[in-house]
Amino acid sequence: MKVKKAVFPVAGLGTRFIPATKAMAKEMLPVVDKPIIQYAVEEAFAAGIEQIIFVTGRGKKALEDHFDRCFEIEASLESKGKTDLLKQIQELVPRTGTIVYTRQHQPLGLGHAIWCARDIVGDEPFAVLLADDMIQTKGKPVLSEMVEKFDRFRASIAAVMEVEKDQTDKYGILDAGPLEDNVVRIKDMIEKPSPEEAPSNLAIVGRYILTPKIWDYLGKKEKGAGGEIQLTDAMKGLLREQPIFGYKFQGERFDCGDKAGFQMANLAFALERPDMRDKLLSFIKGIVNTC
Ligand code: G1P
Repeated sequence: MKVKKAVFPVAGLGTRFIPATKAMAKEMLPVVDKPIIQYAVEEAFAAGIEQIIFVTGRGKKALEDHFDRCFEIEASLESKGKTDLLKQIQELVPRTGTIVYTRQHQPLGLGHAIWCARDIVGDEPFAVLLADDMIQTKGKPVLSEMVEKFDRFRASIAAVMEVEKDQTDKYGILDAGPLEDNVVRIKDMIEKPSPEEAPSNLAIVGRYILTPKIWDYLGKKEKGAGGEIQLTDAMKGLLREQPIFGYKFQGERFDCGDKAGFQMANLAFALERPDMRDKLLSFIKGIVNTC
């Protein structure tokens, strides 16, 4: 079965970005000139996803409006003959009905957020994208690569990367063995272990493709690290029944849930734009020379 649906847990309050996120969804923070969420949505559509499921919470209206038409802006751009911009804002609105919204009523953890989408996803494999994790690649986007691997393995797969040993308590950490180029077979996993407890420094980052069997484990709603219902724990349960693979993607990952990571993402993505690159580079060189 093809992966056609993608779940985006976007209910988080973004407290790390207060005051910017006091009245605005954190997923709407721009990286260069696009909100963080738009990068992830574009990645999903590029990978062949046909339906996006946003698991939202209170205060996420801007996110819904972003993917909706705005007749005032369209009329104004049209009357001024700004056809390029008009095309841009029209194109970012997905076909009617391709975005579905549901709410997580209480912040009970990532596993719980995903479980909130169970009836919309149903009995088919699905992707999960954590928009905060932005990944810059030279080739195909990470989710496209993962869909290809899923089609081959017919088993759940998560994007993985090596992290500094003292950072393991921020991630789902794997015990895994090599399978083929860029793919590992996961033997065990643990959410946010201390460096001493961590079985390795191989961490899950925010791209997953999961088989529907995961619902059985998410449905148990057992609390794990931080007192939250963790996706990693449900995947650990799934591992007893089905294989799960890790895809060691090629690319740079930015943690946009972190202030420094967010600034780095802005810089890295801006440097990809020919209209900004030279200006930024000479600015950076100037700073480096005076440090
Ligand atoms: C979540 C997952 C964790 C994963 C991480 C990647 O943690 O629970 O397993 O490694 O995303 O960014 P969070 O960052 O929401 O605490």
